[in-house]
Amino acid sequence: MELYLDSANVAEVERLARIFPVAGVTTNPSIVAVGKETLWEVLPRLQKAIGEEGTLFAQTMSRDAQGMVEEARRLRDTVPGIVVKIPVTAEGLVAIKQLKKEGITTLGTAVYSASQGLLAALAGAKYVAPYVNRIDAQGGDGIRTVQELQTLLELHAPDTMILAASFKTPRQALDCLLAGCEAITLPLDVAQQMLNIPAVESAIAKFEQDWESAFGQLTL
Ligand code: E4P
Repeated sequence: MELYLDSANVAEVERLARIFPVAGVTTNPSIVAVGKETLWEVLPRLQKAIGEEGTLFAQTMSRDAQGMVEEARRLRDTVPGIVVKIPVTAEGLVAIKQLKKEGITTLGTAVYSASQGLLAALAGAKYVAPYVNRIDAQGGDGIRTVQELQTLLELHAPDTMILAASFKTPRQALDCLLAGCEAITLPLDVAQQMLNIPAVESAIAKFEQDWESAFGQLTL
């Protein structure tokens, strides 16, 4: 599977990419806007933070297909291995089909239903990103949507994978992986929650205490 960090904070990405086995970094316009740097400034810095082998994702801003395609070409020219995130609208589907012809890898984003995700896959997106927590927040069932989409892709579009997104808790992410998703992207706080378990610290402290009282030191 592929694990991504959902952030454009270069310092934090650098710090967490040292710890977590990450495949790369996903961004969206809101995430990039937080840092005030332009996308063109921050993308090379993020690439450096995750290393040459890491994959970057960046989203187009145009509403029309032609604009999306032109922005995608510029993104590809700036970062050759980039995956271009295209919102799955009617125009987005037109753009995804065109970009597939041009060999530019896409992710269908802003996916709120299984049918929308399936359409993006059939249009040629390599990834589709259902927004798990946002679906829950509007009264839907994010995990169920992911489960349905996963089954649909396995049956009808096996070359496309779900990159599940929009998480508030590690539980949501694990449920997506249990549903068979091959990729997830985590906000930094959710990634850190996966390791912040108070019982682990107290278990290690007890090992240290027992060791030190027996051997008078904290090394082997
Ligand atoms: C990914 O494609 C999305 O941009 C992102 O995960 C949305 O996350 P949010 O709902 O926490 O803003």
